[in-house]
Amino acid sequence: MAVVGEEVSNKQIILKEYVSGFPKESDMVVKTASRGLEERHLVKNLYLSCDPYMRVRMRKMEDSYVESFTPGSPIIGYGVARVLDSGHPNFKKGDLVWGITGWEEYSVIKAQESVFKIQNTNVALSYYTGILGMPGMTAYVGFYELCSPKQGEYVFVSAASGAVGQLVGQFAKLLGCYVVESAETKEKVDLLKNKFGFDEAFNYKEEDLEATLKRMVANMDNLVQGMPKLKLVWFIVFIYKKNGIDFKFFTFFGNEKMVFTYFQIKFSLSPPPPRLATIHAATAHLSENKELATLTIDIFLQKSVATPLIKIFPRYFPNGIDIYFENVGGKMLDAVLLNMRLRSRIAMCGMISQYNLEQPEGIHNLFCLITKRVRMEGFVVSDYYHMYPKFLDMILPHIKEGKITYVEDIAEGLESAPAALIGLFVGHNVGKQVYVLVKIPEELYFIDK
Ligand SMILES: NC(=O)c1ccc[n+]([C@@H]2O[C@H](COP(=O)([O-])OP(=O)(O)OC[C@H]3O[C@@H](n4cnc5c(N)ncnc54)[C@H](OP(=O)(O)O)[C@@H]3O)[C@@H](O)[C@H]2O)c1
Repeated sequence: MAVVGEEVSNKQIILKEYVSGFPKESDMVVKTASRGLEERHLVKNLYLSCDPYMRVRMRKMEDSYVESFTPGSPIIGYGVARVLDSGHPNFKKGDLVWGITGWEEYSVIKAQESVFKIQNTNVALSYYTGILGMPGMTAYVGFYELCSPKQGEYVFVSAASGAVGQLVGQFAKLLGCYVVESAETKEKVDLLKNKFGFDEAFNYKEEDLEATLKRMVANMDNLVQGMPKLKLVWFIVFIYKKNGIDFKFFTFFGNEKMVFTYFQIKFSLSPPPPRLATIHAATAHLSENKELATLTIDIFLQKSVATPLIKIFPRYFPNGIDIYFENVGGKMLDAVLLNMRLRSRIAMCGMISQYNLEQPEGIHNLFCLITKRVRMEGFVVSDYYHMYPKFLDMILPHIKEGKITYVEDIAEGLESAPAALIGLFVGHNVGKQVYVLVKIPEELYFIDK
């Protein structure tokens, strides 16, 4: 048990150097320093949060909305902590707080205005890194303040299973909107539809594989002119998943004369980029007069089966989108712009697809903002923290009454933090990514509780 006046060892996650390109675990290192427990404004960190904007702070920036991290110093981020000592009139020893702290066991809070006292403790404390903290406020402000939502409107949210996206979609559903969300894996898409109850959800990387394969078969048919027609009678799919590698093997049986096989290996490389690699191959075996001839259709080799985003939106939004809650940027934004309705709104919350790029992607369809009279507005959540009490009044009853579902992805221990942070950029997190530092019961841990 820690005692006031004692020196304690303080494990920390240190940023080694500024990062360019895709971040690596080795950009951060675990170190142990010591810290005197009599320091003013000292807190013991309990939960720490992994947030995409932290990647932005890993590069050297001047004149930005957030400061760069300092190489050689602990990473800074949101967390939940217990006050061990405070010189501030608003906080006393034993208080629980959430806000900006360090990626270490003990931190000195430098800006007291960047932490909020936790008044309501009959919810999981980790919620203050997410639904009751910065991401919750982001979803609330972005949706209600920027999007001017109305019942019955058509809402699209990207990076939807993450901390912010899962909440925006639920706020929209509570208001009676039609909500479609996108995510990367089948697991996440199932979560969006079944757990959160959104009207539709799609996998933006691998939308409608079966339909795409059927199209490929049809294309192949055109290519093999003069050959007997390939009819899709039935097919078998073998799926094998291990260590992030996803093997899919499809065999299509046409008639007794032909068999079409399709093989796909998908694996995440983390790090370095690419974020997702996909290998595709297709072969068609055609037999004539019972003598087997094999024809390899090279055109399918290494061709992605993903439907271009541009074609996805008319399917889910035949009449267009009223509200787009932007979390990813890049190609997604470009495709969405073409599908916005007259006088629709876009809340520019984040652009995670761009954070690791040295050269951001360009956007081609901005003219739609003019022709459709779209209002597109960016925001930074900290500008709205004065609304935090109002937000709590809205969200706490919803949580209590079970009207809002919240999914967290909890890692354990400070050492797990670098991998958890990097995992955000390859979509490893399912729900809000947080990590827990203190597992032993609080009453045993805190001094003078
Ligand atoms: N404006 C503000 O004040 C403010 C405050 C908080 C957050 N934000 C922004 O809001 C966005 C969502 O934050 P969050 O905390 O909800 O995120 P999160 O929970 O950390 O989720 C991040 C998700 O983004 C998706 N993703 C990662 N790399 C991607 C890429 N290259 N292309 C497309 N999607 C990618 C992944 O989901 P899939 O596996 O589904 O692709 C990943 O799980 C971020 O852009 C963040 O910077 C802004």
